[in-house]
Amino acid sequence: MTLRVVVLISGTGSNLEALLGACDVGLHGADVVAVGADREAAGLEFARRRGIETFVEQYEVGERAAWSRRLAAEVASHRPDLVVLSGLMRVLPAQFVAEFSPMLINTHPAYLPEFPGAHGVADALAAGVSQTGATIHIVDPGVDSGPIIDQVRIPIHSDDDVATLHERIKVAERRLLITTVSNIAAGRLDLHAVSSPTTPFKYTAEENE
Ligand code: GRF
Repeated sequence: MTLRVVVLISGTGSNLEALLGACDVGLHGADVVAVGADREAAGLEFARRRGIETFVEQYEVGERAAWSRRLAAEVASHRPDLVVLSGLMRVLPAQFVAEFSPMLINTHPAYLPEFPGAHGVADALAAGVSQTGATIHIVDPGVDSGPIIDQVRIPIHSDDDVATLHERIKVAERRLLITTVSNIAAGRLDLHAVSSPTTPFKYTAEENE
């Protein structure tokens, strides 16, 4: 059975592009059936080029609850088994999260619980730490606070700026995202079993092969 995936983005969609590329070459039983955004995001083009359905639910200040209801209805209309936030720059209201979680995952450019929020890369640089990371986690109603599925450490170089560091982190995010979707599709990862808010889920060596 194919895992129906809906991806939500806000920007360039380079992580989405990597996921679509993996699906093109037969990512174990996963199929991106629609890509949505909260604005006319450049990354929607990666889906359009492949003939994948896209939608924009424009966010307007002061109408968060109504926007969330429209977005949830649009997402649900594609009958997703999994919803991926891949650079959606909005905190989703609790009612949206309740409808889709735990089959609702997010990629974050830091080693959570370190540096949550919209400026995770800049915050790590400003903190002067020697390493940061990338995390994929289940979305809960908080800000980047849901149960961690997988994460990796990324060293910070002395000449890094936000752009160079973010680009290196995104390479890791793409790997985490593709591996996670693949593991869910193949039945190796059950998101209902990932319940600890801070402990990364560990696959057994056998399951990782
Ligand atoms: C990623 O680093 C994601 O974690 C963050 O925004 C970035 C999206 O990049 N929330 P892109 O749009 O996939 O290039």
